[in-house]
Amino acid sequence: MISASYHFPKGFLWGAATAGHQVEGQSKDSWSAWEDAPGRILNGQKAGLACDWWGGRWQEDFDRAAQTGQNAHRLSIEWSRIEPEPGRWDNEALDRYREMIAGALKRGLTPMVTLHHFANPLWMEESGSWEREDSPELFERYVCRVVEALKEDVNLWITINEPNVYMLCAYLEGVFPPGKRDLTAAINVYANLARAHARAYHAIHRIQPQARVSIANHFRAVRPETASPLDSLAANLMQRAFNDSFPGALRSGVLDLGFKRISIPEAANTQDFIGLNYYTLDQVRFNLLKSRDFFQTRRFPPSAEVSDTGFIANVPEGLWLALKWANRYQKPIIISENGVEDADDDLRPRYLIQHIHQIWRGVNFSWPIKGYFHWSLVDNFEWERGWSQRFGLWGLDVETQARVRRRSVDVYEAVCRENSITSEMVEQFAPEIFKKVFPA
Ligand code: GAL
Repeated sequence: MISASYHFPKGFLWGAATAGHQVEGQSKDSWSAWEDAPGRILNGQKAGLACDWWGGRWQEDFDRAAQTGQNAHRLSIEWSRIEPEPGRWDNEALDRYREMIAGALKRGLTPMVTLHHFANPLWMEESGSWEREDSPELFERYVCRVVEALKEDVNLWITINEPNVYMLCAYLEGVFPPGKRDLTAAINVYANLARAHARAYHAIHRIQPQARVSIANHFRAVRPETASPLDSLAANLMQRAFNDSFPGALRSGVLDLGFKRISIPEAANTQDFIGLNYYTLDQVRFNLLKSRDFFQTRRFPPSAEVSDTGFIANVPEGLWLALKWANRYQKPIIISENGVEDADDDLRPRYLIQHIHQIWRGVNFSWPIKGYFHWSLVDNFEWERGWSQRFGLWGLDVETQARVRRRSVDVYEAVCRENSITSEMVEQFAPEIFKKVFPA
């Protein structure tokens, strides 16, 4: 067996990603209200105490991250806590976040802060949410408060997490609050999210000129199932509508939905880096009968291994496609999420190694890839899927709050500490993929 290693550049960020509603607990926001209504969440589950970060357990989890070689952490701030009523600002909540971020820094974790991660203040949700014409302004006002308070300690900002997923799940599929299935509302919201990002981007730079600002782009890799031109057409349509439209608007100032173009000039050139969330890849086939589904059927590549709740296929080449795509923007790239739900931690070690290996391929091409944030540090509340999916490096016993260290912690720790993937690591943690990662 060969002995070799794939090295990452000095200063590469290795961390995990979390989001407020999913880890904090005791939230009063659009999601907690949604969880209270019957039939919304799998098995009627609720976030409840979540990982009890609002109760202070972020400290022990940051210890875990830092003690296992991580040097960065992505977390989100909850608008619902900062502005619990319109125009009323909760400085104590802001202090709590300030403390959390100082705690990250003290432990050697560079913070990357998300300002909107799927949850809204209740008042916002109940008064029209992102359909409100003034939603971009309201968001900007909140962002200014937060950035003023944290500008000394935070340099990396994600304004909005996955606008494409949020728009799709909340306004087309109806599985996120407010549970609409309304194309007109969806388009309106999508455009408002771009306007809100643009306002936030410019405001952050006014307050903190050296800040680096982006969104977390969810890239769902697609490829045509066969060589048929119709399958290619279907894959292309999906690529453009889902993956390209939003970041395209943040480059050109035009939100191009294929059947509709919306001009948002203030959004032009508003990503300082590309935040990239990648989980899996779909094969796409043209299907005339699926008019409601953009004339296509999608499925995972039949040869790919699928995760324990069937949510993710392990297709590392999809991350390669995502990186190639991101690199076209000619900006630094940060993988802001990547991971798999895997309660018994059987797939995760090889998923981790194979995906980090694809990142190294980009590094080896001298692409400006600056960091990787694994989703997630500890099992947390997975939206409409409740507690059924376990994405953590550490497992969580929701009843007792006990953390259970999974083998993947050792894998990731080895990568973070060595700033590389070595043949010894692969031999130790995932010998079954040795030849894929280190072909002789
Ligand atoms: C992403 C989302 C995260 C997390 C993850 C795994 O789309 O940003 O909050 O839920 O998926 O399902």
